[in-house]
Amino acid sequence: TALLILWAVIGYLLGSIPFGLIITRAMGLGDVRAIGSGNIGATNVLRTGSKAAAIATLLLDAGKAIAAVILARILAAEDAAQIAGAAAFAGHCYPIWLRFRGGKGVATILGLLIALSWPVGLAACATWLAAAFAFRYSSLAALLAAGFAPLYSLLFGDGRIVLLSLVLALILYARHAPNIARLRAGTEPRIGRK
Ligand code: G3P
Repeated sequence: TALLILWAVIGYLLGSIPFGLIITRAMGLGDVRAIGSGNIGATNVLRTGSKAAAIATLLLDAGKAIAAVILARILAAEDAAQIAGAAAFAGHCYPIWLRFRGGKGVATILGLLIALSWPVGLAACATWLAAAFAFRYSSLAALLAAGFAPLYSLLFGDGRIVLLSLVLALILYARHAPNIARLRAGTEPRIGRK
């Protein structure tokens, strides 16, 4: 149990690194929290006008979850890997450094799913891409990808992550409450627009 708590802490600390904030600051793009939705994720980083910054944010936010899972898997075991991945998601959404005001967990959940079960992760990424292409709403794509993740976990035989992906999807939905309200009101900005 002490070991699992340790991996939760390591996962949380990795997940809490706000790459969107760090990258936009380093590139002189200003404070990403002052533009668009105010979110620190790749979608809002794109609203600074820098595709490179958005892609870097996406890859690093996904990468920190992948790193947490793989480190725990190599140095401990699969249950530690799950805990580390979930904790990375929590760290991204509720980082202590930003007074617990973090991101919405999209890149992070995709990363941890890829690392925990690549068929589930790939299916979720494909869902995000297809929905983003079809509807041009990043948030809707994320809601669909995360919403289907528990089903993909069931289908692709990874029963151990059904509950995990369900709980994380519910948190992701809660984090997207403003987006859901805007989608219903028809005021959600489409991808790439401010
Ligand atoms: O990356 C989170 C995405 O689903 C929505 O981002 O900035 O449009 O609220 P945003």
